[in-house]
Amino acid sequence: MKEKILRSQQWFGKKGKDGFIYRAWMKNQGIPADEFQNKPVIGICNTWSELTPCNAHFRELAESVKRGIIEAGGLPLEFPVMSLGETLIKPTAMLYRNLVSMDVEESIRANPLDGVVLMCGCDKTTPALVMGACSVDLPAIVISGGAMLTGKYEGRDIGTSDIWRFSENIRSGLMTEDELNVAEAAMCRSRGHCAVMGTASSMACMVESLGISLPGNAAIPAADSNRKVLAQLTGRRIVEMVKENVTFSSILTRQAFENAIKVNAAVGGSTNFVIHLLAIAGRVGVPLTLDDFDKYSNGIPLVANLQPSGKYFMEDLYYAGGIPAVMKEIMKSLNTECITANGKTILDNIKDAKNWNKEVIAEVAAPFNKSSGIVVLKGNLCENGSIIKPSAASQKLMKHKGKAVVFENIEDYKARINDPLLDVDENSVLVLKNVGPKGYPGMPEVGNMGLPTKLLLKGVTDMVRISDGRMSGTGFGTVVLHVSPEAAENGNFAVVENGDMIELDVEKKLLNVVVDQAELDRRKSVLKPFENSFKRGYAYLFVQHVEQANVGVDFDFLKGGSGSEVSRDSH
Ligand code: FES
Repeated sequence: MKEKILRSQQWFGKKGKDGFIYRAWMKNQGIPADEFQNKPVIGICNTWSELTPCNAHFRELAESVKRGIIEAGGLPLEFPVMSLGETLIKPTAMLYRNLVSMDVEESIRANPLDGVVLMCGCDKTTPALVMGACSVDLPAIVISGGAMLTGKYEGRDIGTSDIWRFSENIRSGLMTEDELNVAEAAMCRSRGHCAVMGTASSMACMVESLGISLPGNAAIPAADSNRKVLAQLTGRRIVEMVKENVTFSSILTRQAFENAIKVNAAVGGSTNFVIHLLAIAGRVGVPLTLDDFDKYSNGIPLVANLQPSGKYFMEDLYYAGGIPAVMKEIMKSLNTECITANGKTILDNIKDAKNWNKEVIAEVAAPFNKSSGIVVLKGNLCENGSIIKPSAASQKLMKHKGKAVVFENIEDYKARINDPLLDVDENSVLVLKNVGPKGYPGMPEVGNMGLPTKLLLKGVTDMVRISDGRMSGTGFGTVVLHVSPEAAENGNFAVVENGDMIELDVEKKLLNVVVDQAELDRRKSVLKPFENSFKRGYAYLFVQHVEQANVGVDFDFLKGGSGSEVSRDSH
């Protein structure tokens, strides 16, 4: 059979001056001449950074990927892209997800690569890399960095979700600063990302259930030697994928997206999953809507007993059998014929999976919670939808009517939430505006806003909270998020006022403000049109082009892809 001419040969296979330039400078790294003779060149797209602690072990992990690529006959070339450390980046890492996706897309297309391994970990690094790679559509595969080992504090397990509890305990006097310092030193025991089913873990489950990583990718802890084994196997596999021309678009079918929604429901995955999956679908040209999350989550019970919806941690999920065991439990609901990165179907990958601990992964007939997933709410307070995660909410607040206590922005909230004179009681509905994609900008994770101090002191632990922002995947509570259109778009949400009655009915999927549309329209008629307050730079671009939460918060000009062809050649 005739050998396939690789894309990288458009650089390294050239004769004369151009080929000389392409190869000679690479040879300064000590690469022998035969490495450039039609060998698959595999980029390792690395989000390593000491400013992204969750991905700080990635240079070492990349060595395992390289070993696999070399074993399979490829030439590995590692390259950095912008990294997003969720805990450090201000004003919010989400502001930069699309920027990283552009960095990834352009870096892949512009270079002599035949395939790519995407090294993903902390929350935004996964969707950003997958979005960018989708828009080029060369053969690609994800290796996730893995979660941290479970934190240990005062004889019990802790993880990121406990931060929200600690914070409320400090404010209500149940915890001292000294105790908080001890907990701080006990939380992050090893390399890796957050150990609960937060956004990073949900993203790792997402890539595994979509089929764009090897099976088992989501749950192996970062500190476990099997993480390196998987990285090496991923390196081997990408070389074969190049030879077989297995691109993201050949795996990321509509059915694969349906599977990912169902698995996210079964594990109690993050609400951020919604905007990231919508954005990825947009890049690969698969029609996916907010209503699909409702439709395909429906009937999928919560089978993984993981924080923040349940009790355990990612380490426990790994020991119990990982995502293959979860997928096997809900197998009847999945599109098991979907092809995955290893060339096998979902069915092939999960049919022999074992569930070793039914405390962690329940049988589908006896789930931890019958309701799971994401419920999409509609109503006059969110004309284009909003979402709530019932498994992380209080059952008694699922149907609730209360008066709005409105904060016009995050600064207003911070200024008044501790005020003993704040007119609020436990039946009130806290409303936070202007934390949406444009209004903040960047849609920060502030939706699970802390409760008023005076109510915490009375022992109140949850209230209905509504915003156009997001919530950390580690967060919980009866929290309505992603209200679309956001306040900055001057929809009805922009004009809700203190004292307006708000009705939430999760079973009926309704979110309404009990105010006549004529009155809402009157209020809107005096609103000023939103103005981009940034005059230059990336923030200006972001505000100018970002789309709303109900369609994925991508830039309008980044939808779809441009393929792997380089339009001009200056050499
Ligand atoms: Fe990186 Fe939680 S801060 S995953």
